[in-house]
Amino acid sequence: MTTRQSDKAGAAVEVRGLVKHYGETKALDGVDLEVRQGTVLGVLGPNGAGKTTLVRVLSTLIQPDAGSARVAGYDVLKQPRQLRRVIGLTGQYASVDEKLSGRENLYMIGRLLDLSRKDAKARADGLLERFSLTEAAKRPASGYSGGMRRRLDLAASMIGNPAVLYLDEPTTGLDPRTRNEVWAEVKRMVAEGATVLLTTQYMEEAEQLANELTVIDRGRVIANGRVDELKAKVGGRTLQIRPIETVTLPAMSAALADAGLDGVAGATIDHEEGVLNVPILSDEQLTSVVGLLGVRGFGISGIATHLPSLDEVFLSITGQKPDHQDGQSGSAGPSGPGEQAGSATEKSDAEQGVAA
Ligand SMILES: Nc1ncnc2c1ncn2[C@@H]1O[C@H](COP(=O)(O)OP(=O)(O)OP(=O)(O)O)[C@@H](O)[C@H]1O
Ligand SMILES: [Mg+2]
Repeated sequence: MTTRQSDKAGAAVEVRGLVKHYGETKALDGVDLEVRQGTVLGVLGPNGAGKTTLVRVLSTLIQPDAGSARVAGYDVLKQPRQLRRVIGLTGQYASVDEKLSGRENLYMIGRLLDLSRKDAKARADGLLERFSLTEAAKRPASGYSGGMRRRLDLAASMIGNPAVLYLDEPTTGLDPRTRNEVWAEVKRMVAEGATVLLTTQYMEEAEQLANELTVIDRGRVIANGRVDELKAKVGGRTLQIRPIETVTLPAMSAALADAGLDGVAGATIDHEEGVLNVPILSDEQLTSVVGLLGVRGFGISGIATHLPSLDEVFLSITGQKPDHQDGQSGSAGPSGPGEQAGSATEKSDAEQGVAA
């Protein structure tokens, strides 16, 4: 198995009306989504949203109550065996065998996937090298750090050279440095052509890795679209102005308020950062604000525009912070499907600094 098995261009994962109930709990309550070939779909949702249930259905580990799903063209219910051959899974909880060494873990999985002894060894050594585990390869995995286990997990999911990879909260519980290592690995897999379905509770992770996002909450899709579309949906940009002298912040703010620039209202001073944040709805406004401050002689050392953070996106879609629930509790329900972001206008200047 040397070449990546892949579907023809189009959707690598297609999910339609997927339903899975556990007693009264609607873990999946009619989920539709698609992952295009060679892209990363981020499935974003709080605890209990249904992310792991979705991954388990798409891995054929559990069967849905209703709906359909195809992965690389294979139906989860009708072609589970073929489907399993083209996927890789890194579960939410580490699946390495503690007693075995890193190398033994990978070799064993290769053998389970029907590789010859020679091929399984070669594949294990190649992946150990690639995930910087060569030095630790012969030590039992029980002695590995959290980051090393995660890397071993990722390596394990790649043994069969899968066309489609599921990563279920790949960095939950990892420290920032280890998290960055995992992100770099995922980016590399994608650059090499893998299609990835990534579940996460972290907005930052979705922003770093995903081309598109499907936001789920209590088993339902509450929004989907490109990351920048979802951000643009929440509203305009924020123009952040950093004065040379922070003492001029109140005067700057007052000058903008006095000028009565159309629609420029509610500028706020962030004393901690030493910046003025101005909500901006158009390029014309941005030009006017910067122009006005220049004319009034304010010294500026930096300006940048920001789209809203994904935390704010989630808040605006659901009316709640993403960490609001642990199960089915909670008060304000999500807004209906009419709130989906597919029609949001495109913005190409996400997080674009316009000056240093
Ligand atoms: N085997 C099970 N038996 C009963 N209920 C379950 C089972 N698996 C999941 N659930 C319930 O289904 C809902 C969705 O769970 P799921 O694990 O898919 O959420 P999740 O988005 O992965 O959450 P987390 O971010 O905490 O991993 C939850 O309410 C959970 O309690
Ligand atoms: Mg989960």
